[in-house]
Amino acid sequence: MQTDEQIVGSTRSAKQTSRQNVCILGATGSIGESTLKVLTLHSDQYHVFALSGHSRLDQLAELCAKYRPTYVAVPADKGDAFAKDLRHRFPDVEIPTILEGELGLKQIASHPDVNVVMAAIVGAAGLEPTLAAVQAGKRVLLANKEALVMAGNLFMDCVRRSGAMLLPVDSEHNAIFQCLPSDYFQTTERFQNQSSRAGVSQILLTASGGPFRQFDLQQLEQVTPEQACKHPNWVMGQKISVDSATLMNKGLELIEACHLFDLPPERVTVVVHPQSIIHSLVQYVDGSTLAQMGNPDMCTPIAHALAWPKRIDAGVAPLDLFQVATLQFEKPDEVRFPCIRLAREAMQAGGTTPTVLNAANEVAVAAFLAKKIKFCEIPRIIESVITQLPMTPARDLATILHYDTTARQIAGSLL
Ligand SMILES: NC(=O)c1ccc[n+]([C@@H]2O[C@H](COP(=O)([O-])OP(=O)(O)OC[C@H]3O[C@@H](n4cnc5c(N)ncnc54)[C@H](OP(=O)(O)O)[C@@H]3O)[C@@H](O)[C@H]2O)c1
Repeated sequence: MQTDEQIVGSTRSAKQTSRQNVCILGATGSIGESTLKVLTLHSDQYHVFALSGHSRLDQLAELCAKYRPTYVAVPADKGDAFAKDLRHRFPDVEIPTILEGELGLKQIASHPDVNVVMAAIVGAAGLEPTLAAVQAGKRVLLANKEALVMAGNLFMDCVRRSGAMLLPVDSEHNAIFQCLPSDYFQTTERFQNQSSRAGVSQILLTASGGPFRQFDLQQLEQVTPEQACKHPNWVMGQKISVDSATLMNKGLELIEACHLFDLPPERVTVVVHPQSIIHSLVQYVDGSTLAQMGNPDMCTPIAHALAWPKRIDAGVAPLDLFQVATLQFEKPDEVRFPCIRLAREAMQAGGTTPTVLNAANEVAVAAFLAKKIKFCEIPRIIESVITQLPMTPARDLATILHYDTTARQIAGSLL
């Protein structure tokens, strides 16, 4: 039987090395690029072992020529063309072992020689490869927030059972991680009301407010994908840029925070902070509020997650508070930006509702980027899909994937 697990191209054995072998799922994206930047600074400690790409295979070939990974993963049926292109453009480069399709992604994520997996595929496509890394007990650096939104309880159960080390890369969650006591994730009581034991009263999740923070509803009706993708503080992939503009990114992060830090949604407060200098805060019952600050550059949380509990150079300039001078804070406006409310309600509903929210959002954002719908239709479509699909307990992966598919179909019919 023909399956997508075929290995294409020459096979070469993994290098025996004392360095940590790193697999980057989503190497051709923005987080992939920042990760490679940090790894390059520390090539004595980390070896680029496996990389994946999806549509930008030209770029993946260049990364192969530069970093010489042992494995690459490409979409199903693209392996032969990829090997041919690599041979043609870089004749001196030894062809890595090329794996295809979702199975290829899972194989590199769970490969026995891999120590660290950067989960940086965007959207639901990252769920199963990231779960494979977790199941294999890897050190998993989680950028792919959609995986946790779709399958939070199942994902965290899997972390607990496998003994994988899950380190948040989203700058806000990485900041919260840094503001929590160092044993928060190490004690055997993890996942058992850990926040109360640590005296955490609430988490303050900061949001830049995105490029349309000061737009009124009328202006929001007219905004274009090009405007939405120009974030004031961060350079990111297109999907997360639109999510930042609708504030759904903060909604997804609220759900992510609840799962990572064992808190109900009522104890996660979104604070708009346009400068993106404070990356999030933790409030304690004794009145203390701890914040993590730094220049907005993803290399910081990536380096932190890579080396934790040690600290390594991230290549990021130190924060100059005299230059920053002012820090502002505002309440988010949930009338102009209803996505935070939708995400909070989805988390409160539980079960498959966050899966449905995520799927409907992915379809709506893709339609907005393709100029098929207007910006303000994104939350309307999400709300309509959630209303049409009543909550069901997210018992297993099959149920989650079924609701993901159904929500996509309903969202597609609303375009
Ligand atoms: N960028 C940031 O600053 C930032 C910050 C925090 C969290 N995150 C999260 O990190 C993740 C990645 O974000 P990003 O900004 O790096 O996105 P991006 O630049 O769009 O990169 C996404 C990566 O995923 C790959 N990919 C896309 N669809 C795929 C599919 N169906 N199957 C397999 N691979 C696929 C892409 O491959 P091709 O490019 O080859 O198509 C690319 O390597 C997202 O979940 C995002 O929310 C990003």
